[in-house]
Amino acid sequence: MFLNLFRRKYQPRPIFAPLGTDMHCHLIPKVDDGSKCVEESLECLNTLKAVGYKKVIITPHFQHPRFPNNEDDIVRRYNELKQKAGEAGVEIEIAGIGGEYRIDSGFAARLENPRFLQVAGKYVLVEFSLHQQMMGSDELIFDLQMKGYEVILAHPERYPYLNVQGLRMEQLKNQGVYFQINVLSLGGFYGEEAKRKAYEMLEQGWVEFMGTDTHNTMYAQALSDLSRDRKVEKVLEKYTFLNNTLL
Ligand SMILES: [Fe+2]
Repeated sequence: MFLNLFRRKYQPRPIFAPLGTDMHCHLIPKVDDGSKCVEESLECLNTLKAVGYKKVIITPHFQHPRFPNNEDDIVRRYNELKQKAGEAGVEIEIAGIGGEYRIDSGFAARLENPRFLQVAGKYVLVEFSLHQQMMGSDELIFDLQMKGYEVILAHPERYPYLNVQGLRMEQLKNQGVYFQINVLSLGGFYGEEAKRKAYEMLEQGWVEFMGTDTHNTMYAQALSDLSRDRKVEKVLEKYTFLNNTLL
């Protein structure tokens, strides 16, 4: 009896249902710093379903030279995962493959002959270095936009050199860059500063997308824990996001 009550208390809650689609995670096994094997991917996918998501778009890192992925290989591995998830009876819909493209020294070359895996066939998800600013990175985003791409910046709350009160973040917003914050930031998973910035960005009305950025079962457990957080649940009710327009 006591055990049953204990278990029930710690069941994940489907608070992310209003978002519908998770559009940022690393669940193709062994292609980046995400999932290490199919079993781990399937476990994470089951957690995404349990916390309320109906669909997921998977976004492996493309980063030179750390993750030298190529699009054809990623699409092949994506289809393999999808098949295995189907066989295992995973209920969340694996609804698309994108990429998380690092704006780095290799990005300019990528722009010469662009072939991006786009989120929902529409958006290019990009990220900056988590440690240091790269000169000219905003210009590279602008070049990408000039080529006709819609750009989403992944987790702007996590860059120590980007601040909500700072000119640069505002300029990115004015430049038409969409912002995606990580849901785990709202619970302090990446520290107090990222948490504060995530809430400030929400208050500014600067957040179009929410992503889980799930890499492995540790993230999945954190997500499951966060699903019991009433404050986060209220955020999901209060603000409107574009996640459920994706597919
Ligand atoms: Fe990511």
